[in-house]
Amino acid sequence: MRAPQLLVLFGSQTGTAEDQAERLRREARRRRMGCRVQATDSYLCFEPLVIFVCATTGQGDPPDNMKNFWRFIFRKSLPSTSLCQMDFAVLGLGDSSYAKFNFVAKKLHRRLLQLGGSALLPPCLGDDQHELGPDAAIDPWLGDLWEKVLGLNPVPPDLPEIPLGVPLPSKFTFQFLQEAPSTGTEGPSIASTVPQGPPSESQPFLAPVVTNQRVTGSQHFQDVRLIEFDITDSSISFAAGDVVLILPSNSEAHIQKFCHVLGLDPDQFFLLQSREPGVPCPPGLPQPSSVKHLVSQYLDITSVPRRSFFELLACLSPHGLEREKLLEFSSAQGQEELWEYCNRPRRTILEVLCDFPHTACAIPPDYLLDLIPQIRPRAFSIASSLLAHPTRLQILVAVVQYQTRLKEPRRGLCSSWLASLDPGQAQPVRVPLWVRPGGLVFPETPDTPVIMVGPGTGVAPFRAAIQERVAQGQTGNFLFFGCRKRDQDFYWQTEWQELEKRGYLTLVTAFSREQEQKVYVQHRLQELGPLVWELLDRRGAHFYLAGNAKYMPTDVEEALTSVFQEEGQLSNADAAAYLARLQRTLRFQTETWA
Ligand code: 2AM
Repeated sequence: MRAPQLLVLFGSQTGTAEDQAERLRREARRRRMGCRVQATDSYLCFEPLVIFVCATTGQGDPPDNMKNFWRFIFRKSLPSTSLCQMDFAVLGLGDSSYAKFNFVAKKLHRRLLQLGGSALLPPCLGDDQHELGPDAAIDPWLGDLWEKVLGLNPVPPDLPEIPLGVPLPSKFTFQFLQEAPSTGTEGPSIASTVPQGPPSESQPFLAPVVTNQRVTGSQHFQDVRLIEFDITDSSISFAAGDVVLILPSNSEAHIQKFCHVLGLDPDQFFLLQSREPGVPCPPGLPQPSSVKHLVSQYLDITSVPRRSFFELLACLSPHGLEREKLLEFSSAQGQEELWEYCNRPRRTILEVLCDFPHTACAIPPDYLLDLIPQIRPRAFSIASSLLAHPTRLQILVAVVQYQTRLKEPRRGLCSSWLASLDPGQAQPVRVPLWVRPGGLVFPETPDTPVIMVGPGTGVAPFRAAIQERVAQGQTGNFLFFGCRKRDQDFYWQTEWQELEKRGYLTLVTAFSREQEQKVYVQHRLQELGPLVWELLDRRGAHFYLAGNAKYMPTDVEEALTSVFQEEGQLSNADAAAYLARLQRTLRFQTETWA
Protein backbone atom coordinates (compact mmCIF):
# COMPACT_ATOMS: atom_id res chain seq x y z
CA MET A 1 0.00 0.00 0.00
CA ARG A 2 1.27 3.49 -0.85
CA ALA A 3 1.82 5.86 2.06
CA PRO A 4 -0.73 8.72 1.93
CA GLN A 5 0.35 12.18 0.81
CA LEU A 6 -0.40 15.42 2.56
CA LEU A 7 -0.04 18.90 1.14
CA VAL A 8 0.51 21.75 3.62
CA LEU A 9 0.13 25.28 2.26
CA PHE A 10 1.14 28.23 4.35
CA GLY A 11 0.42 31.94 4.16
CA SER A 12 2.97 33.56 6.40
CA GLN A 13 4.05 37.14 7.03
CA THR A 14 6.41 36.85 9.98
CA GLY A 15 7.33 33.16 9.72
CA THR A 16 5.01 31.81 12.43
CA ALA A 17 2.64 30.12 9.98
CA GLU A 18 5.57 28.68 8.08
CA ASP A 19 6.93 27.34 11.34
CA GLN A 20 3.62 25.66 12.11
CA ALA A 21 3.54 24.23 8.59
CA GLU A 22 6.99 22.76 9.23
CA ARG A 23 5.70 21.29 12.46
CA LEU A 24 2.92 19.57 10.49
CA ARG A 25 5.53 18.18 8.14
CA ARG A 26 7.57 16.74 11.00
CA GLU A 27 4.48 15.24 12.59
CA ALA A 28 3.43 13.75 9.25
CA ARG A 29 6.84 12.21 8.71
CA ARG A 30 6.82 10.65 12.15
CA ARG A 31 3.51 9.09 11.12
CA ARG A 32 5.12 7.89 7.88
CA MET A 33 3.04 10.16 5.69
CA GLY A 34 4.55 11.87 2.67
CA CYS A 35 4.18 15.61 3.11
CA ARG A 36 4.97 18.63 0.99
CA VAL A 37 5.06 22.14 2.44
CA GLN A 38 4.86 25.22 0.24
CA ALA A 39 3.74 28.83 0.20
CA THR A 40 0.08 29.11 -0.79
CA ASP A 41 0.87 31.28 -3.79
CA SER A 42 3.10 28.62 -5.34
CA TYR A 43 0.21 26.13 -5.30
CA LEU A 44 -0.92 25.16 -8.75
CA CYS A 45 -3.54 22.42 -8.57
CA PHE A 46 -5.82 20.98 -5.98
CA GLU A 47 -4.93 17.72 -4.25
CA PRO A 48 -7.05 15.28 -2.26
CA LEU A 49 -5.78 16.23 1.20
CA VAL A 50 -4.70 19.79 1.98
CA ILE A 51 -3.99 21.60 5.24
CA PHE A 52 -3.88 25.40 5.06
CA VAL A 53 -1.85 27.22 7.70
CA CYS A 54 -2.57 30.91 7.45
CA ALA A 55 -1.89 34.04 9.40
CA THR A 56 -4.13 37.09 9.40
CA THR A 57 -2.33 40.41 9.11
CA GLY A 58 -3.33 43.66 10.85
CA GLN A 59 -6.27 44.70 8.72
CA GLY A 60 -7.74 41.24 8.21
CA ASP A 61 -5.70 40.71 5.04
CA PRO A 62 -3.91 37.54 3.92
CA PRO A 63 -0.10 37.51 4.11
CA ASP A 64 1.88 38.51 1.02
CA ASN A 65 2.69 34.95 -0.06
CA MET A 66 -1.01 34.11 -0.12
CA LYS A 67 -2.39 37.16 -1.93
CA ASN A 68 -2.55 35.71 -5.46
CA PHE A 69 -4.25 32.56 -4.24
CA TRP A 70 -6.69 34.73 -2.28
CA ARG A 71 -7.63 36.76 -5.33
CA PHE A 72 -8.05 33.57 -7.36
CA ILE A 73 -10.21 31.74 -4.87
CA PHE A 74 -12.58 34.67 -4.39
CA ARG A 75 -13.14 35.23 -8.09
CA LYS A 76 -16.86 35.43 -8.77
CA SER A 77 -16.51 33.41 -11.97
CA LEU A 78 -15.20 30.28 -10.22
CA PRO A 79 -17.46 27.28 -10.79
CA SER A 80 -18.91 26.74 -7.34
CA THR A 81 -19.42 23.41 -5.55
CA SER A 82 -16.97 21.40 -7.63
CA LEU A 83 -13.64 23.19 -7.77
CA CYS A 84 -12.21 22.14 -4.43
CA GLN A 85 -13.24 18.53 -4.10
CA MET A 86 -10.75 17.70 -1.43
CA ASP A 87 -10.49 17.03 2.28
CA PHE A 88 -9.11 20.11 3.93
CA ALA A 89 -8.48 21.74 7.27
CA VAL A 90 -7.53 25.32 8.10
CA LEU A 91 -5.12 26.22 10.88
CA GLY A 92 -5.36 29.96 11.57
CA LEU A 93 -2.88 32.17 13.38
CA GLY A 94 -4.12 35.47 14.68
CA ASP A 95 -4.14 37.94 17.49
CA SER A 96 -7.35 38.58 19.39
CA SER A 97 -6.29 42.16 20.18
CA TYR A 98 -7.10 42.95 16.54
CA ALA A 99 -10.71 43.40 15.47
CA LYS A 100 -10.43 40.93 12.59
CA PHE A 101 -9.16 38.01 14.63
CA ASN A 102 -8.25 35.07 12.37
CA PHE A 103 -10.38 36.58 9.64
CA VAL A 104 -8.40 34.90 6.84
CA ALA A 105 -8.72 31.39 8.33
CA LYS A 106 -12.45 31.75 8.92
CA LYS A 107 -13.15 33.19 5.49
CA LEU A 108 -11.00 30.61 3.71
CA HIS A 109 -12.74 27.77 5.54
CA ARG A 110 -16.16 29.07 4.46
CA ARG A 111 -15.05 29.61 0.89
CA LEU A 112 -13.54 26.11 0.53
CA LEU A 113 -16.81 24.61 1.76
CA GLN A 114 -18.68 26.70 -0.80
CA LEU A 115 -16.39 25.39 -3.54
CA GLY A 116 -17.13 21.77 -2.73
CA GLY A 117 -14.39 20.94 -0.19
CA SER A 118 -15.00 18.66 2.83
CA ALA A 119 -13.74 20.06 6.09
CA LEU A 120 -12.00 17.49 8.26
CA LEU A 121 -12.74 19.67 11.27
CA PRO A 122 -13.62 23.27 12.19
CA PRO A 123 -10.83 25.83 11.67
CA CYS A 124 -8.25 26.17 14.42
CA LEU A 125 -8.03 29.72 15.77
CA GLY A 126 -4.54 30.12 17.22
CA ASP A 127 -4.22 33.25 19.34
CA ASP A 128 -1.00 35.14 20.07
CA GLN A 129 -2.72 36.77 23.01
CA HIS A 130 -3.31 33.46 24.79
CA GLU A 131 -0.95 33.32 27.73
CA LEU A 132 0.45 30.01 26.50
CA GLY A 133 0.66 31.27 22.92
CA PRO A 134 -1.08 29.86 19.84
CA ASP A 135 -0.09 26.28 20.73
CA ALA A 136 -2.76 26.29 23.44
CA ALA A 137 -5.37 26.00 20.67
CA ILE A 138 -3.18 24.22 18.12
CA ASP A 139 -2.09 21.20 20.22
CA PRO A 140 -5.55 19.70 20.79
CA TRP A 141 -6.60 20.60 17.25
CA LEU A 142 -3.61 18.75 15.78
CA GLY A 143 -4.47 15.69 17.89
CA ASP A 144 -7.95 15.66 16.31
CA LEU A 145 -6.52 16.35 12.87
CA TRP A 146 -4.17 13.35 12.90
CA GLU A 147 -6.98 11.12 14.09
CA LYS A 148 -9.12 12.20 11.13
CA VAL A 149 -6.32 12.10 8.58
CA LEU A 150 -5.10 8.66 9.62
CA GLY A 151 -8.68 7.42 9.80
CA LEU A 152 -9.19 8.37 6.16
CA ASN A 153 -5.68 7.41 5.01
CA PRO A 154 -4.39 4.55 7.14
CA VAL A 155 -0.64 4.16 7.18
CA PRO A 156 0.61 0.70 6.15
CA PRO A 157 1.05 -1.46 9.28
CA ASP A 158 4.64 -2.32 8.34
CA LEU A 159 5.62 1.34 8.82
CA PRO A 160 5.52 2.10 12.55
CA GLU A 161 5.55 5.68 13.84
CA ILE A 162 8.96 7.23 14.47
CA PRO A 163 9.01 7.98 18.19
CA LEU A 164 9.50 11.58 19.38
CA GLY A 165 12.99 11.04 20.80
CA VAL A 166 14.47 9.96 17.45
CA PRO A 167 15.64 12.79 15.15
CA LEU A 168 14.26 12.95 11.62
CA PRO A 169 16.94 13.41 8.94
CA SER A 170 18.16 17.00 8.59
CA LYS A 171 16.95 19.12 5.67
CA PHE A 172 20.48 20.05 4.59
CA THR A 173 23.99 18.66 4.62
CA PHE A 174 27.11 20.75 5.21
CA GLN A 175 30.28 19.90 3.37
CA PHE A 176 33.13 21.71 5.13
CA LEU A 177 36.03 22.84 2.99
CA GLN A 178 39.65 22.37 4.03
CA GLU A 179 40.62 25.82 2.79
CA ALA A 180 38.94 29.16 2.27
CA PRO A 181 38.01 29.83 -1.38
CA SER A 182 40.75 31.60 -3.33
CA THR A 183 38.86 34.92 -3.49
CA GLY A 184 39.03 34.94 0.30
CA THR A 185 35.43 36.11 0.59
CA GLU A 186 31.99 34.55 0.37
CA GLY A 187 31.09 33.02 -3.00
CA PRO A 188 29.04 35.18 -5.39
CA SER A 189 28.16 37.95 -2.99
CA ILE A 190 24.80 39.62 -3.33
CA ALA A 191 26.44 42.94 -4.14
CA SER A 192 28.66 41.73 -6.95
CA THR A 193 26.08 39.88 -9.03
CA VAL A 194 24.29 41.78 -11.75
CA PRO A 195 20.79 42.49 -10.44
CA GLN A 196 17.93 41.01 -12.45
CA GLY A 197 14.98 43.36 -12.07
CA PRO A 198 14.34 45.37 -8.96
CA PRO A 199 15.87 44.18 -5.66
CA SER A 200 14.01 41.39 -3.88
CA GLU A 201 14.44 38.98 -0.99
CA SER A 202 16.76 36.73 -2.98
CA GLN A 203 18.66 39.72 -4.34
CA PRO A 204 18.46 42.65 -1.94
CA PHE A 205 20.12 45.98 -2.64
CA LEU A 206 23.01 46.65 -0.25
CA ALA A 207 22.23 50.26 0.60
CA PRO A 208 24.80 52.51 2.30
CA VAL A 209 23.51 54.14 5.49
CA VAL A 210 23.98 57.89 5.21
CA THR A 211 22.10 59.14 8.27
CA ASN A 212 21.47 57.60 11.68
CA GLN A 213 20.14 60.33 13.91
CA ARG A 214 18.29 60.16 17.22
CA VAL A 215 15.14 62.25 16.84
CA THR A 216 13.78 61.97 20.36
CA GLY A 217 15.02 64.30 23.10
CA SER A 218 17.29 63.07 25.87
CA GLN A 219 14.40 62.99 28.34
CA HIS A 220 12.24 60.77 26.17
CA PHE A 221 12.02 57.12 27.24
CA GLN A 222 12.35 55.91 23.67
CA ASP A 223 15.29 56.05 21.29
CA VAL A 224 13.76 56.79 17.87
CA ARG A 225 16.08 57.06 14.88
CA LEU A 226 15.78 58.68 11.50
CA ILE A 227 17.71 56.30 9.25
CA GLU A 228 18.50 57.29 5.70
CA PHE A 229 19.79 55.02 2.94
CA ASP A 230 21.44 55.95 -0.34
CA ILE A 231 19.62 54.07 -3.09
CA THR A 232 21.46 55.57 -6.06
CA ASP A 233 21.58 53.10 -9.01
CA SER A 234 19.46 50.55 -7.18
CA SER A 235 16.47 50.58 -9.58
CA ILE A 236 14.36 50.82 -6.43
CA SER A 237 11.17 52.73 -6.94
CA PHE A 238 8.33 53.39 -4.51
CA ALA A 239 5.31 55.56 -3.86
CA ALA A 240 3.84 56.97 -0.65
CA GLY A 241 2.39 54.16 1.47
CA ASP A 242 4.97 51.56 0.36
CA VAL A 243 7.20 49.72 2.80
CA VAL A 244 10.86 48.77 2.83
CA LEU A 245 11.99 45.32 3.95
CA ILE A 246 15.27 45.15 5.80
CA LEU A 247 17.34 42.06 6.59
CA PRO A 248 19.20 42.60 9.85
CA SER A 249 22.36 40.84 11.02
CA ASN A 250 23.40 39.47 14.38
CA SER A 251 25.95 41.41 16.39
CA GLU A 252 29.60 40.39 16.32
CA ALA A 253 29.47 39.52 20.04
CA HIS A 254 26.49 37.20 19.55
CA ILE A 255 28.09 35.50 16.54
CA GLN A 256 31.27 34.81 18.50
CA LYS A 257 29.40 33.50 21.52
CA PHE A 258 27.21 31.23 19.39
CA CYS A 259 30.21 29.75 17.57
CA HIS A 260 31.96 29.27 20.88
CA VAL A 261 29.15 27.31 22.60
CA LEU A 262 28.59 25.17 19.51
CA GLY A 263 32.31 24.62 18.95
CA LEU A 264 32.15 26.06 15.42
CA ASP A 265 34.98 27.82 13.65
CA PRO A 266 33.48 31.09 12.32
CA ASP A 267 36.09 31.29 9.55
CA GLN A 268 35.48 27.85 8.13
CA PHE A 269 33.83 27.62 4.72
CA PHE A 270 31.20 25.09 3.65
CA LEU A 271 28.93 24.09 0.79
CA LEU A 272 25.29 23.54 1.63
CA GLN A 273 23.16 20.92 -0.06
CA SER A 274 19.48 20.25 0.31
CA ARG A 275 18.59 16.64 1.10
CA GLU A 276 15.03 16.91 -0.08
CA PRO A 277 13.69 17.99 -3.43
CA GLY A 278 11.51 21.05 -2.97
CA VAL A 279 13.48 22.37 0.02
CA PRO A 280 15.58 25.21 -1.43
CA CYS A 281 18.74 26.57 0.19
CA PRO A 282 18.21 29.88 2.02
CA PRO A 283 17.72 32.68 -0.52
CA GLY A 284 20.89 34.53 -1.45
CA LEU A 285 23.21 32.28 0.60
CA PRO A 286 26.57 32.31 -1.21
CA GLN A 287 28.15 28.96 -2.08
CA PRO A 288 30.61 28.46 -0.51
CA SER A 289 29.80 30.47 2.57
CA SER A 290 31.63 30.96 5.85
CA VAL A 291 30.11 29.84 9.14
CA LYS A 292 30.32 33.44 10.28
CA HIS A 293 28.28 34.63 7.30
CA LEU A 294 25.63 31.98 7.92
CA VAL A 295 25.30 32.84 11.60
CA SER A 296 25.42 36.57 11.02
CA GLN A 297 22.80 36.81 8.25
CA TYR A 298 20.64 33.71 8.46
CA LEU A 299 20.30 32.23 11.95
CA ASP A 300 17.87 34.06 14.20
CA ILE A 301 19.77 33.24 17.39
CA THR A 302 18.25 36.07 19.42
CA SER A 303 14.64 35.02 18.76
CA VAL A 304 12.70 33.22 21.48
CA PRO A 305 12.84 29.49 20.71
CA ARG A 306 9.64 27.64 19.92
CA ARG A 307 8.65 24.27 21.22
CA SER A 308 9.92 22.55 18.06
CA PHE A 309 13.41 23.81 18.94
CA PHE A 310 13.29 21.89 22.23
CA GLU A 311 11.88 18.78 20.51
CA LEU A 312 14.78 18.59 18.09
CA LEU A 313 17.39 19.62 20.66
CA ALA A 314 16.19 16.82 22.95
CA CYS A 315 16.68 14.33 20.10
CA LEU A 316 20.21 15.58 19.51
CA SER A 317 21.31 15.74 23.14
CA PRO A 318 23.88 13.21 24.33
CA HIS A 319 23.63 14.38 27.95
CA GLY A 320 21.19 12.54 30.26
CA LEU A 321 20.13 15.42 32.53
CA GLU A 322 19.94 18.04 29.80
CA ARG A 323 18.02 15.68 27.55
CA GLU A 324 15.50 14.97 30.29
CA LYS A 325 14.87 18.68 30.80
CA LEU A 326 14.59 19.30 27.06
CA LEU A 327 12.10 16.46 26.70
CA GLU A 328 10.04 17.97 29.49
CA PHE A 329 10.00 21.33 27.70
CA SER A 330 8.85 19.65 24.50
CA SER A 331 6.03 17.66 26.11
CA ALA A 332 2.44 18.89 26.31
CA GLN A 333 2.62 18.84 30.13
CA GLY A 334 5.79 20.94 30.12
CA GLN A 335 4.28 23.89 28.25
CA GLU A 336 3.58 26.05 31.27
CA GLU A 337 7.09 25.57 32.56
CA LEU A 338 8.48 26.31 29.11
CA TRP A 339 6.43 29.49 29.00
CA GLU A 340 7.89 30.61 32.34
CA TYR A 341 11.43 29.70 31.29
CA CYS A 342 11.37 31.12 27.77
CA ASN A 343 8.42 33.17 26.62
CA ARG A 344 7.67 35.24 29.70
CA PRO A 345 11.26 36.49 30.17
CA ARG A 346 11.85 36.45 26.36
CA ARG A 347 14.89 34.20 26.70
CA THR A 348 16.74 33.82 23.40
CA ILE A 349 17.95 30.73 21.52
CA LEU A 350 21.53 31.76 22.25
CA GLU A 351 20.82 32.01 25.98
CA VAL A 352 19.09 28.63 26.00
CA LEU A 353 22.05 27.04 24.24
CA CYS A 354 24.33 28.51 26.93
CA ASP A 355 22.08 26.87 29.54
CA PHE A 356 22.49 23.45 27.84
CA PRO A 357 26.22 23.47 27.07
CA HIS A 358 26.72 19.69 26.71
CA THR A 359 23.94 19.57 24.17
CA ALA A 360 24.97 22.72 22.33
CA CYS A 361 28.51 21.51 21.64
CA ALA A 362 27.15 18.22 20.25
CA ILE A 363 24.75 19.71 17.67
CA PRO A 364 25.68 18.37 14.23
CA PRO A 365 25.96 21.39 11.86
CA ASP A 366 23.62 19.59 9.42
CA TYR A 367 20.79 20.37 11.83
CA LEU A 368 21.50 24.09 12.26
CA LEU A 369 18.87 25.16 9.76
CA ASP A 370 16.28 22.71 11.12
CA LEU A 371 16.86 23.94 14.63
CA ILE A 372 17.14 27.69 14.25
CA PRO A 373 14.68 29.79 12.26
CA GLN A 374 16.03 32.04 9.55
CA ILE A 375 16.27 35.76 10.19
CA ARG A 376 13.16 37.34 8.68
CA PRO A 377 13.11 40.71 6.98
CA ARG A 378 11.46 43.50 8.96
CA ALA A 379 9.03 45.92 7.29
CA PHE A 380 9.12 49.69 7.86
CA SER A 381 6.83 52.32 6.38
CA ILE A 382 8.87 54.49 4.05
CA ALA A 383 8.98 58.05 5.39
CA SER A 384 10.27 59.93 2.34
CA SER A 385 9.23 60.47 -1.27
CA LEU A 386 11.39 60.01 -4.34
CA LEU A 387 9.91 63.27 -5.61
CA ALA A 388 11.53 65.12 -2.71
CA HIS A 389 14.64 62.92 -2.24
CA PRO A 390 15.29 61.11 -5.56
CA THR A 391 18.25 59.01 -4.36
CA ARG A 392 17.25 58.49 -0.75
CA LEU A 393 14.98 56.29 1.32
CA GLN A 394 14.20 57.28 4.91
CA ILE A 395 12.55 55.43 7.78
CA LEU A 396 11.74 56.14 11.43
CA VAL A 397 12.86 53.35 13.74
CA ALA A 398 11.83 53.03 17.38
CA VAL A 399 14.64 51.05 19.01
CA VAL A 400 13.09 48.11 20.82
CA GLN A 401 14.61 47.59 24.26
CA TYR A 402 12.98 46.43 27.45
CA GLN A 403 13.74 44.66 30.67
CA THR A 404 12.39 41.35 31.85
CA ARG A 405 13.43 39.40 34.92
CA LEU A 406 16.65 38.49 33.06
CA LYS A 407 19.65 40.71 33.78
CA GLU A 408 20.45 41.59 30.17
CA PRO A 409 17.91 43.96 28.60
CA ARG A 410 15.99 42.48 25.66
CA ARG A 411 16.77 44.17 22.37
CA GLY A 412 14.97 44.04 19.03
CA LEU A 413 17.35 42.53 16.48
CA CYS A 414 16.66 44.85 13.56
CA SER A 415 16.12 48.15 15.37
CA SER A 416 19.20 47.69 17.61
CA TRP A 417 21.31 46.70 14.65
CA LEU A 418 20.20 49.71 12.60
CA ALA A 419 20.77 52.04 15.55
CA SER A 420 24.30 50.64 15.96
CA LEU A 421 25.38 51.45 12.39
CA ASP A 422 27.81 54.31 11.98
CA PRO A 423 27.36 56.24 8.72
CA GLY A 424 30.61 58.11 9.30
CA GLN A 425 32.91 55.16 8.55
CA ALA A 426 35.27 55.30 5.60
CA GLN A 427 33.77 52.04 4.26
CA PRO A 428 30.03 52.75 4.30
CA VAL A 429 27.91 50.24 6.23
CA ARG A 430 25.49 48.54 3.86
CA VAL A 431 22.03 47.26 4.67
CA PRO A 432 20.27 44.59 2.56
CA LEU A 433 16.86 45.94 1.58
CA TRP A 434 14.09 45.93 -1.01
CA VAL A 435 10.64 47.52 -1.22
CA ARG A 436 7.09 46.31 -1.69
CA PRO A 437 3.70 47.97 -1.93
CA GLY A 438 2.24 48.78 1.46
CA GLY A 439 -1.29 48.81 2.75
CA LEU A 440 -1.89 52.53 2.15
CA VAL A 441 -2.83 53.89 -1.25
CA PHE A 442 -3.29 57.62 -1.71
CA PRO A 443 -5.78 59.18 -4.15
CA GLU A 444 -4.56 60.13 -7.58
CA THR A 445 -7.24 62.74 -8.11
CA PRO A 446 -5.59 66.06 -7.24
CA ASP A 447 -8.60 67.63 -5.53
CA THR A 448 -9.31 64.83 -3.07
CA PRO A 449 -8.39 65.97 0.44
CA VAL A 450 -6.63 63.50 2.75
CA ILE A 451 -6.99 63.28 6.52
CA MET A 452 -4.01 61.50 8.06
CA VAL A 453 -3.91 60.41 11.68
CA GLY A 454 -0.44 59.30 12.74
CA PRO A 455 0.64 59.58 16.36
CA GLY A 456 4.30 58.78 17.17
CA THR A 457 6.16 56.84 14.47
CA GLY A 458 2.75 56.38 12.80
CA VAL A 459 3.49 59.67 11.06
CA ALA A 460 6.17 58.01 8.86
CA PRO A 461 4.01 57.02 5.84
CA PHE A 462 2.29 60.42 5.98
CA ARG A 463 5.63 62.22 5.72
CA ALA A 464 6.09 60.35 2.41
CA ALA A 465 2.53 61.13 1.29
CA ILE A 466 2.79 64.82 2.16
CA GLN A 467 6.14 65.16 0.39
CA GLU A 468 4.69 63.44 -2.66
CA ARG A 469 1.52 65.51 -2.71
CA VAL A 470 3.34 68.78 -2.13
CA ALA A 471 5.74 67.97 -5.00
CA GLN A 472 2.66 67.49 -7.18
CA GLY A 473 1.17 70.78 -5.97
CA GLN A 474 -1.71 69.10 -4.10
CA THR A 475 -3.18 70.95 -1.16
CA GLY A 476 -5.90 69.57 1.14
CA ASN A 477 -3.50 67.73 3.45
CA PHE A 478 -4.77 67.40 7.03
CA LEU A 479 -2.37 65.80 9.50
CA PHE A 480 -3.32 64.83 13.07
CA PHE A 481 -0.08 64.18 14.91
CA GLY A 482 0.28 63.10 18.54
CA CYS A 483 3.33 62.87 20.75
CA ARG A 484 4.27 63.32 24.39
CA LYS A 485 5.93 66.74 24.38
CA ARG A 486 6.78 69.20 21.66
CA ASP A 487 10.43 69.43 22.72
CA GLN A 488 10.90 65.64 22.96
CA ASP A 489 9.23 63.70 20.16
CA PHE A 490 7.69 66.17 17.71
CA TYR A 491 9.18 64.61 14.55
CA TRP A 492 9.69 66.96 11.58
CA GLN A 493 8.25 69.92 13.47
CA THR A 494 9.97 72.59 11.38
CA GLU A 495 9.14 70.84 8.12
CA TRP A 496 5.42 70.80 9.00
CA GLN A 497 5.46 74.42 10.10
CA GLU A 498 7.09 75.44 6.86
CA LEU A 499 4.45 73.60 4.82
CA GLU A 500 1.69 75.17 6.89
CA LYS A 501 3.07 78.60 6.05
CA ARG A 502 3.12 77.71 2.35
CA GLY A 503 -0.54 76.66 2.56
CA TYR A 504 0.02 72.96 1.86
CA LEU A 505 -0.75 71.52 5.26
CA THR A 506 -3.21 71.80 8.11
CA LEU A 507 -1.49 70.37 11.16
CA VAL A 508 -3.39 69.41 14.30
CA THR A 509 -1.30 68.34 17.28
CA ALA A 510 -2.04 66.43 20.47
CA PHE A 511 0.70 66.66 23.10
CA SER A 512 -0.28 64.01 25.59
CA ARG A 513 1.99 65.00 28.45
CA GLU A 514 2.04 68.78 28.48
CA GLN A 515 -0.93 69.02 30.84
CA GLU A 516 -2.61 67.03 33.61
CA GLN A 517 -5.12 65.29 31.38
CA LYS A 518 -3.93 63.15 28.47
CA VAL A 519 -4.79 64.67 25.10
CA TYR A 520 -4.70 62.25 22.15
CA VAL A 521 -5.33 62.58 18.41
CA GLN A 522 -8.86 61.19 18.78
CA HIS A 523 -9.74 64.05 21.15
CA ARG A 524 -8.66 66.52 18.48
CA LEU A 525 -10.69 64.66 15.86
CA GLN A 526 -13.76 65.05 18.02
CA GLU A 527 -13.10 68.71 18.74
CA LEU A 528 -12.81 69.29 15.00
CA GLY A 529 -15.83 67.10 14.25
CA PRO A 530 -17.56 69.65 11.96
CA LEU A 531 -14.43 69.98 9.77
CA VAL A 532 -13.84 66.22 9.66
CA TRP A 533 -17.47 65.58 8.68
CA GLU A 534 -17.39 68.32 6.05
CA LEU A 535 -14.22 66.88 4.51
CA LEU A 536 -15.47 63.30 4.46
CA ASP A 537 -19.12 63.81 3.63
CA ARG A 538 -19.07 66.82 1.32
CA ARG A 539 -15.57 66.83 -0.14
CA GLY A 540 -14.97 63.09 -0.56
CA ALA A 541 -11.83 63.08 1.60
CA HIS A 542 -9.84 59.88 2.22
CA PHE A 543 -9.00 59.00 5.82
CA TYR A 544 -5.75 57.28 6.86
CA LEU A 545 -4.63 55.93 10.18
CA ALA A 546 -1.18 54.59 11.06
CA GLY A 547 0.70 53.68 14.20
CA ASN A 548 0.70 51.44 17.24
CA ALA A 549 -1.93 48.72 17.09
CA LYS A 550 -2.63 48.42 20.78
CA TYR A 551 -5.57 50.72 21.59
CA MET A 552 -5.14 53.70 19.29
CA PRO A 553 -6.87 52.34 16.14
CA THR A 554 -10.03 51.33 18.00
CA ASP A 555 -10.04 54.60 19.94
CA VAL A 556 -9.76 56.61 16.72
CA GLU A 557 -12.51 54.58 15.03
CA GLU A 558 -14.78 55.20 17.99
CA ALA A 559 -14.08 58.93 17.89
CA LEU A 560 -14.81 58.97 14.19
CA THR A 561 -18.13 57.15 14.57
CA SER A 562 -19.14 59.58 17.25
CA VAL A 563 -18.33 62.45 14.86
CA PHE A 564 -20.62 60.79 12.29
CA GLN A 565 -23.39 60.55 14.88
CA GLU A 566 -23.04 64.15 16.06
CA GLU A 567 -22.39 65.94 12.83
CA GLY A 568 -24.29 63.69 10.42
CA GLN A 569 -27.16 63.09 12.83
CA LEU A 570 -26.71 59.35 12.28
CA SER A 571 -27.86 56.57 14.58
CA ASN A 572 -25.25 54.33 16.15
CA ALA A 573 -25.87 51.63 13.54
CA ASP A 574 -25.87 54.08 10.63
CA ALA A 575 -22.60 55.62 11.80
CA ALA A 576 -21.01 52.16 11.95
CA ALA A 577 -22.36 51.42 8.46
CA TYR A 578 -20.96 54.75 7.22
CA LEU A 579 -17.48 53.78 8.49
CA ALA A 580 -17.82 50.30 6.98
CA ARG A 581 -18.69 51.89 3.62
CA LEU A 582 -15.61 54.13 3.81
CA GLN A 583 -13.52 51.03 4.51
CA ARG A 584 -15.05 49.06 1.64
CA THR A 585 -14.44 51.85 -0.84
CA LEU A 586 -10.86 52.28 0.43
CA ARG A 587 -11.60 55.78 1.71
CA PHE A 588 -10.62 54.62 5.21
CA GLN A 589 -7.29 52.80 5.31
CA THR A 590 -5.08 51.76 8.19
CA GLU A 591 -1.50 50.55 8.64
CA THR A 592 -0.82 49.47 12.18
CA TRP A 593 2.02 47.62 13.84
CA ALA A 594 2.61 45.93 17.18
P1 2AM B 1 1.24 58.64 26.01
O1 2AM B 1 2.48 57.86 25.76
O2 2AM B 1 1.48 59.89 26.75
O3 2AM B 1 0.14 57.82 26.63
C1 2AM B 1 2.79 58.67 20.41
O4 2AM B 1 3.19 57.54 21.07
C2 2AM B 1 1.66 59.34 21.14
O5 2AM B 1 0.50 58.46 21.13
C3 2AM B 1 1.96 59.63 22.60
O6 2AM B 1 1.60 60.94 22.84
C4 2AM B 1 1.10 58.65 23.34
O7 2AM B 1 0.68 59.11 24.60
C5 2AM B 1 -0.09 58.58 22.40
N1 2AM B 1 -1.03 57.47 22.70
C6 2AM B 1 -0.93 56.47 23.59
N2 2AM B 1 -2.03 55.69 23.59
C7 2AM B 1 -2.87 56.22 22.69
C8 2AM B 1 -4.19 55.87 22.25
N3 2AM B 1 -4.84 54.82 22.72
N4 2AM B 1 -4.74 56.64 21.32
C9 2AM B 1 -4.09 57.72 20.80
N5 2AM B 1 -2.87 58.10 21.18
C10 2AM B 1 -2.25 57.36 22.12
